[in-house]
Formats: sequence, structure tokens, C-alpha cells
Amino acid sequence: MSKTKAKNYTDDFVALTGDILNNDKVKSMTQYNHHGIVDTHFHSIHVAYEVYKMCLLMHLSDKDTSDITRASLLHDLYLYNWYTDKHDEMHAFYHPKEAVKNIEKYNVISLSKMQKDMILRHMFPLGKIPKSKGGWILTFCDKTCAANELITKFKGFSDIYGDINDRIKSDF
Ligand SMILES: [Fe+2]
Ligand SMILES: [Fe+2]
Repeated sequence: MSKTKAKNYTDDFVALTGDILNNDKVKSMTQYNHHGIVDTHFHSIHVAYEVYKMCLLMHLSDKDTSDITRASLLHDLYLYNWYTDKHDEMHAFYHPKEAVKNIEKYNVISLSKMQKDMILRHMFPLGKIPKSKGGWILTFCDKTCAANELITKFKGFSDIYGDINDRIKSDF
């Protein structure tokens, strides 16, 4: 992808998700390690960005593109260190529920039924099968991004991530 094209996506992505990117709880994800290589903030933006591109590729409506991309950005808002903070359930099953709880508790956005379902089922096949197209897109992009982060050690998305962070600082 050329730099120019990446920049265009970045502008549109920030316009669609800027209020969420600027939320303090979302920003706090930089302190939580996600895969041992990247933090949860990087991973969440990476996934949401790829989800956004896939929605465009699939010619989804503006509303679906917005709802699906915004929910994807919040799919891992679990806000704890899963390496050290243990719960009764395994992290893989526990953290989607915690993300939904945090989104509602901190009033980040008002989740639709579809958005809640997307987040709760994003760990499929660990957990229940997604029920919506947004759920399938998120589940797919979550896996491909995680693999990309582990294989490339996050270099593949770091320039765009840097651009998005610069935009957050300058626009808000
Ligand atoms: Fe997750
Ligand atoms: Fe994830």
C-alpha cells in the first residue's frame, strides 16, 4: 500500500473513531501487554483499522461500517494485565465480557445488540460462534492481526499507528 493511500484511510478512520481514540480508558490500554510484543492499544487500533478496510472492501453501508469499526476498536477493553491478574475463568473466555462491562461502566459508547454480540463472540472458536457479519469480520481480523503482530513484531502497522496517534494529539 502506498503512503498516500494509507494516509487517506487514516484520515477517514480517525474521523470515524476519534471520540473513542480520545477516551482516557481507551488511551490507558497502552499500559497493558497484549501478546508479549504489543500493547492492547496498538492491537485494538490495528484490528479496528483492518476491520474498517474490510468493511470498505465489502461495500457495507456507512452505518454498518461505522458500527462494526467502532465496536472492533473496543473489543479488548478488558483493562487488566492478563499475565498477572487471574480470574475464575480463563482469560480467553473472560476478557470479552470484561470489555463489554467496561464499555458500559465507563460510558465509552452506547453498544447496540449487534456490537455487544460482536465483542462477546470475537474469540471464536474459543467461545460461541459469531451471529452477525460484523462478528465474523472482527473474529477474522483479530486473528490475522494477532498473527501479523507476532510474525512481523508489529512493524507492519507501526507507521500507520504512529500517524493515528499524531492525529489524536493534534486534533483533540
Ligand atoms: Fe480479545
Ligand atoms: Fe484482540
